[in-house]
Amino acid sequence: MVGEIRLYTEHDFQEKAQQYAVVLSSRGVDTFIEVVEKLNARFFRHHPELALCVDDEGLWLCANGMRMQPDWKAEVGRLKRASIKSEMIARACNLTEKPQLVDATAGLGHDSLLMAQLGANVILIERHPILFTLLEDAKRLAEQDSFLSKVVARIQLVFSDSAEYLKQQAIENQSFDVVYLDPMFPQRDQNHQAEKKQAQVKKQMQLLHLLLPEDGEMDLGDGLLDLAKPIAKRVIVKRPRHAVFLANQQPDHQWLGDACRFDAYFSHALSD
Ligand SMILES: C[S@@+](CC[C@H](N)C(=O)[O-])C[C@H]1O[C@@H](n2cnc3c(N)ncnc32)[C@H](O)[C@@H]1O
Repeated sequence: MVGEIRLYTEHDFQEKAQQYAVVLSSRGVDTFIEVVEKLNARFFRHHPELALCVDDEGLWLCANGMRMQPDWKAEVGRLKRASIKSEMIARACNLTEKPQLVDATAGLGHDSLLMAQLGANVILIERHPILFTLLEDAKRLAEQDSFLSKVVARIQLVFSDSAEYLKQQAIENQSFDVVYLDPMFPQRDQNHQAEKKQAQVKKQMQLLHLLLPEDGEMDLGDGLLDLAKPIAKRVIVKRPRHAVFLANQQPDHQWLGDACRFDAYFSHALSD
C-alpha cells in the first residue's frame, strides 16, 4: 500500500530510528534510513519530498519544507474549554451516556480525543500504516502529560481496516453504543465557506492529504455504513455541511453546523 519511504535521523537517534523502521516494516512500510548531520529548517527546505524523520520527539512526517505530527498537545486548550452542551459532536454521539464508541476512521484522532475528554470510551481504528504509527506516538506522548494521560486512558488504538473490524464484531455478536464515521471527502467538493481555517488546522489537514492523496481511487467509506448499522445503537457520520449522504442513505436525524454536519442512523433493534 505504501512501499518504501526515506527516514532521516541524526547520529544520536539512529537506534530509535531503527526501532521505528522495524515497526513500520511489520506494517508493510519499508524505510531507507539516512543519517544526516542536523535535522533543521534548512535541511527540510532542501529536502521537500515526502519522507519520515526521527528525533528526540519521536516520528514525524516531512514534506514541503515542514515536519508534522498529529499534535494532541495542541488540542489541550480546546479540550479544556469543551463541554457536552457546547459541542455538537457530543450531542450527536450522546456523550452524556459515556458510550462505548468505535471511531472507525481515526485520521489524526482529534475527534476521538474530544469525545474521550467528554466521557466516551473509544476504540480508534486506522488502516494507514504510517498514520497509525504516528497516532501510536501521539498517544505515547500524551500518556506523559498530566492532563492528556487521563483522556487517552479511554482510547484504545487498533491497526485495521474498519470494514474487516466491523465484520468481525458482527460475527462475535459484539455491539456498541456508537459507531462514528468521518471518511475522507474530496477537498475540491467541499464548501469553501468552511475553508477559512487557522494555520495549525491547515498544517494538520496537509498531513492527512499528503498521506491520503486524492488522485486515483479515493475510498469514500460508503461501505462502512451498512457494516456499522447492525452492531451500533447509533451510527454518526460527519460530513461537510453540503455533502451528499454517505452511501446515499437518508439519515434519521441531523445536527447542522456552519462547516459540517452530523447525520445519525438509529438502530431500532439495538436501542435501549
Ligand atoms: C477524514 S479522516 C478522519 C479525521 C478524524 N475524524 C480526525 O478527527 O482527525 C479519515 C481517516 O479514516 C481513515 N479510513 C478511511 N477508511 C478507513 C477504513 N476502512 N478503515 C480504517 N481507516 C479508514 C483514513 O485513512 C483517514 O485517516
